[in-house]
Amino acid sequence: MSEQRSRSAATTHGEISHPVFAAVYDLCPEPAVVEAERAYLARDLSGRVLELGCGTGDMFPFAVDAAADDLEYHAIEPDPHMRKRAANAARETGLAVDLRDARAESLPYPDESFDIVLAGVVFCTIQDPDAALEEVVRVLKPGGEFRFLEHVHADGWRGTGQELLDPLWKRGAGGCHLTRETVARFVSHDGLAVEEIDRLDIGVFPATPIVRGTLRRRQSGVLG
Ligand SMILES: C[S@@+](CC[C@H](N)C(=O)[O-])C[C@H]1O[C@@H](n2cnc3c(N)ncnc32)[C@H](O)[C@@H]1O
Repeated sequence: MSEQRSRSAATTHGEISHPVFAAVYDLCPEPAVVEAERAYLARDLSGRVLELGCGTGDMFPFAVDAAADDLEYHAIEPDPHMRKRAANAARETGLAVDLRDARAESLPYPDESFDIVLAGVVFCTIQDPDAALEEVVRVLKPGGEFRFLEHVHADGWRGTGQELLDPLWKRGAGGCHLTRETVARFVSHDGLAVEEIDRLDIGVFPATPIVRGTLRRRQSGVLG
């Protein structure tokens, strides 16, 4: 393997490959911190569901526990090292997952084809979050739900600290950014109506605050 190929980073060619991060991800504080909130994302899952950037498949056991009989679970994950672990997790949990190699910015699904889209600590990492949000709105059925659990840019000195740490953090944490204004991005999208948003009292600086919420795809541009 060449020096360039072995580097754990999105390469200049845009490849997403973080073997070390994938290997240690489940030992990091973040998955443990958000564990208790995964049930929020997975509540009453039914119909066609899409998980963005499923990582090692940490959502899968929650999906199994909450699944209705008609659940059809789809997931995308562009990093091959994460995807391999997710495929193992699907086998171990017994969840039937249609797992694809794709990016959130370019979803390989038709318009209005999902009842629910899930995003768990992934909009911090997606390279073009605006393009990804457009895709979420495109693939959701009118009235469909977009459920998220994300860490976002903090206010005050914590926010300043995140700005200083971000270049280093991004390199060590698989491309994750500390300074994304994710909730502001979501609530300002014309195609989505806010159902609920809660700032949670969990997390460890610098990946705080953590916010969870549900938005609903509006019916063809009018309030859903
Ligand atoms: C912090 S991990 C979170 C994994 C998982 N969602 C969870 O809840 O544990 C971020 C994930 O986003 C994936 N990712 C990176 N760029 C992406 C993109 N453009 N579209 C979708 N997923 C992406 C990474 O490979 C990684 O698996």
